[in-house]
Amino acid sequence: MVAESTRATFTRMQDGTADDYAKIDHADAEYFAALPTRILAAVAALATDGLSAYTIDRTSHSLQSATRALRAGEEEDYVVAALIHDVGDPLAPFSHGRLAASIIKPFVSPRIAWIVEQHPVFQMYYYAPHMGGTRDARERFRDHEWFDDAEYFTANYDENCFDPDYPSLPLEYFAPMVHNVFSREPAFPETGATL
Ligand SMILES: [Fe+2]
Ligand SMILES: [Fe+2]
Repeated sequence: MVAESTRATFTRMQDGTADDYAKIDHADAEYFAALPTRILAAVAALATDGLSAYTIDRTSHSLQSATRALRAGEEEDYVVAALIHDVGDPLAPFSHGRLAASIIKPFVSPRIAWIVEQHPVFQMYYYAPHMGGTRDARERFRDHEWFDDAEYFTANYDENCFDPDYPSLPLEYFAPMVHNVFSREPAFPETGATL
């Protein structure tokens, strides 16, 4: 006896049946449940992303950012945001803040997502003149309600997180927090259902 397929059978979505979409919905639930595991794997993979001229690799930088945020007493959402703030680097080196913000946006406050989204602009304050840019790029956001928050993030949990001697906590320490945040009921900004 041939086992019933767990795959839908349509070639165009408009032709899918209720049974097809029940199968997809069932598989989606498992796929979504594994999101925290994929997030953690993506942070771990930053160690080999090729940004090799920095003092420490991107995973170490991310752990240092999250550890400093944790030790400063930041809330769990913020600590997780610190951990993933550079996770977009390998695939979006010219818009990595926006990619990371897209990942975390359905699960945290708009303020935290905005900090992640804009951190590259605020980070420029610390290095841009050495690379042909202007350190004042962040000024375009001077009147924004979260300007000070993004400035604080980069000053305390980003530009200073390249110390090879800082005693960061391991990725495993943050795993329960990542699971808590990314296992929440998400808002759906992409489809506009909630946001
Ligand atoms: Fe960054
Ligand atoms: Fe960073």
